[in-house]
Amino acid sequence: MSLGQFISFEGIEGVGKSTQVREAAKRLTASGQRVLMTREPGGTPLAERIRGLVLHERSEPLPASAELCLMFAARAVHTDNLIRAAFARGEHVLCDRYLDATFAYQGGGRGVPDKDIAALARLACGDLAPDLTILLDAPVDIALQRMAQRGELADRFEQETTVFFERVRAKYLALAEAHPKRMVRVDASAGVTAVSAAVEQVLRARGLLR
Ligand code: TMP
Repeated sequence: MSLGQFISFEGIEGVGKSTQVREAAKRLTASGQRVLMTREPGGTPLAERIRGLVLHERSEPLPASAELCLMFAARAVHTDNLIRAAFARGEHVLCDRYLDATFAYQGGGRGVPDKDIAALARLACGDLAPDLTILLDAPVDIALQRMAQRGELADRFEQETTVFFERVRAKYLALAEAHPKRMVRVDASAGVTAVSAAVEQVLRARGLLR
């Protein structure tokens, strides 16, 4: 059985991540490869319930430490119950966010130290890490404008300030610099079709498409 690759998609809200994950999944599937498309926080029924809590619970304040633990609780469930099983079947896993999101949002955004995140990552993910991470990057003002145009009710993160998202974006860019082999930055300020073509190029360069 062929070995599946773990491909994560990252970026701040409004960069068109979910659309690009779907497009990439379509391309890989059309080329005859088996793909599991999933997301974080979430991906399994239990992890989706944790997602509901961490994104929408407003009954009392959620300390950054609790937010962090909930993200990792969801990730541990998702990793063990869905992702590892997909690799055992030889599938590619396309994940809308994974561990980099925690370094960017809870680390860059909320100020949780990297070493604490790394310690929890060892517990929740073990040796599992993406083979390829596509960072969809756009200036915060453009991304937030697009997010506002979606017109949905804002969750706990979407209500954050521009300054918060600047910190998150800066952390993502620092991660891309620190992991140049794994992380590829794609300019997401262009239209959907141009971004999708750029993602396709990355997949070709990695030998995932011919
Ligand atoms: P989504 O909007 O991409 O579905 O992601 C949900 C939100 O969760 C998004 O605002 C980013 C946030 N998030 C974190 O803060 N830490 C994490 O580890 C993950 C996976 C997501």
